[in-house]
Amino acid sequence: MNGVSATARWTAAARADETRRDDALFTDELAGELAGPEGFARYERYANPGTTEFLAIRTRYLDEVIGRSAALTQVVLVAAGLDTRSVRLGWPSGTVLYELDHADLVDEKEKRLAELGARHACERHAIGTDLTGPWDGPLRAAGWDPSVPTLWIVEGLLFYLPEDDARTLLARLASLSAPGSVLAGDLLSHQSMVSEFTQEGLRRLREDGCPWLWGTDRPEDVLAESGWTVREVKVPGEDGASFGRWPWPPLPRGTEGFPMNFLFTASA
Ligand SMILES: C[S@@+](CC[C@H](N)C(=O)[O-])C[C@H]1O[C@@H](n2cnc3c(N)ncnc32)[C@H](O)[C@@H]1O
Repeated sequence: MNGVSATARWTAAARADETRRDDALFTDELAGELAGPEGFARYERYANPGTTEFLAIRTRYLDEVIGRSAALTQVVLVAAGLDTRSVRLGWPSGTVLYELDHADLVDEKEKRLAELGARHACERHAIGTDLTGPWDGPLRAAGWDPSVPTLWIVEGLLFYLPEDDARTLLARLASLSAPGSVLAGDLLSHQSMVSEFTQEGLRRLREDGCPWLWGTDRPEDVLAESGWTVREVKVPGEDGASFGRWPWPPLPRGTEGFPMNFLFTASA
């Protein structure tokens, strides 16, 4: 797996850890196996106050968006990593799920899922592609239909791409979206890149070949400039982005010096 793809093991380890809790916000029974020892080592190496909580909140937030978007039966996980929503969520009948990620990750994931006897709860297509290239060709070839509204989930990706590539991706998602399509995901704040509290973690990610590259304190602008109509942007701790897991008050927008993550939902 290339440097950034290994971060999928980290977030899988986070889901495995969440699954073990009595008050788990979701359960992902395959996450531990998919994460493997490397995933758990990274989970420890990148641990920071707020990070573990945020990863659990992010997954639950997006699970809830998916639950609320049941009318959208064409779903694309953009940079799916080792996500097992195809197994762990109850999907409306007729749902077709597409998973995009680097080919080496997809190959390894498919092999492990087969070994683990994973049973998918919807029709599923895993596609190896580079999201900074012409990825919609392989998506169409797998059966994705641009005339049908799509639910796009972009979880834990945008800040690993150079900002220009991330903006190009967001704009391409918008331009490919039939009316009624929804995009949900997360963005990192610029403060997260410059805060004294994140520098050690950022250094470790750089050392491991998977640096966070950019953030924005104006997520609404980034989405709007890419052609999306913002429905909501939430920070952890706010209603609908806490789930009892965020022990601090939500940081007021515009606070400087502290890291902040954004969860968003937008429509085409
Ligand atoms: C932190 S993981 C998140 C994975 C998953 N969405 C999750 O939340 O567990 C980041 C993912 O982005 C993928 N990724 C990063 N850059 C990519 C690119 N240019 N093309 C395809 N996938 C990419 C990596 O392979 C990795 O699976």
